[in-house]
Amino acid sequence: MGITVFLFTLLFFFTHSPHVYGNAELRALMDMKALLDPRGLYLSSWTVNGDPCDGSFEGIGCNEAGRVSNISLQGKGLSGKLSPAIGELKHLTGLYIHYNSLKGEIPKEIAKLTELSDLYLNVNNLSGEIPPEIGNMGSLEVLQLCYNQLTGSIPTQLGSLKNLSVLALQSNQLTGAIPASLGNLEMLMRLDLSYNNLFGSIPMKVADAPLLEVLDIRNNTLLATYLLL
Ligand SMILES: *[C@@H]1O[C@H](CO)[C@@H](O)[C@H](O)[C@H]1NC(C)=O
Ligand SMILES: *[C@@H]1O[C@H](CO)[C@@H](O)[C@H](O)[C@H]1NC(C)=O
Ligand SMILES: *[C@@H]1O[C@H](CO)[C@@H](O)[C@H](O)[C@H]1NC(C)=O
Ligand SMILES: *[C@@H]1O[C@H](CO)[C@@H](O)[C@H](O)[C@H]1NC(C)=O
Repeated sequence: MGITVFLFTLLFFFTHSPHVYGNAELRALMDMKALLDPRGLYLSSWTVNGDPCDGSFEGIGCNEAGRVSNISLQGKGLSGKLSPAIGELKHLTGLYIHYNSLKGEIPKEIAKLTELSDLYLNVNNLSGEIPPEIGNMGSLEVLQLCYNQLTGSIPTQLGSLKNLSVLALQSNQLTGAIPASLGNLEMLMRLDLSYNNLFGSIPMKVADAPLLEVLDIRNNTLLATYLLL
């Protein structure tokens, strides 16, 4: 008898506990909320018993299959951090969190988002290095990381992003040389590396990328020999 009551209690607990109530995407969103908006000022519509796809969650868009596909929180006054839980939103195609005051590092788990085409983290206070794992995000078309406090060098792995058309890294504190691998980006139209601490010359392969329309490298310590030829 005692054990039956105990099992019932356990069963009740597991089926009604908020932590197992929703699906993995809802849990990921709640994890993200806790770090993005620690004081609960801006994302109060994201609730543990809510449905992220019924239109009630601010900034969340879903696809026909009812999976979270768009997060659109630009200019919302968010001052927290990006949670590694972002990597659980496997069907995300657009992530727009620009014009906030996010701090901390870009979690490498973001690279699990292999359907993501638009990544806008620009104009925040993100620091640390650009995770080289981003090179695995084969669907990326626009990568906007400009106007942050990013350090380290530009990962050579970004040269694997075959569909990338915009790479905006300006106004960070990036160092090192421009990787020649960026010349493998056959879809690249805009490359902005200005206002960093890059040095060396512009690899000829990069300047010759077939669709490149804009190449901005102002305010670095480049020896722009190639462009002088
Ligand atoms: C995703 O969000 C962006 C930025 O707010 C918006 O322009 C776009 O239309 C949205 N896409 C979908 C499919 O909801
Ligand atoms: C970044 O942090 C600095 C110093 O804390 C602050 O002055 C600045 O406004 C912040 N920028 C953004 C975009 O949040
Ligand atoms: C890259 O773009 C092409 C053409 O739009 C598309 O067919 C392909 O699926 C994309 N690759 C990835 C990995 O998304
Ligand atoms: C380059 O940028 C730094 C930092 O923003 C600034 O102090 C410096 O004046 C700039 N130099 C040029 C040549 O624009």
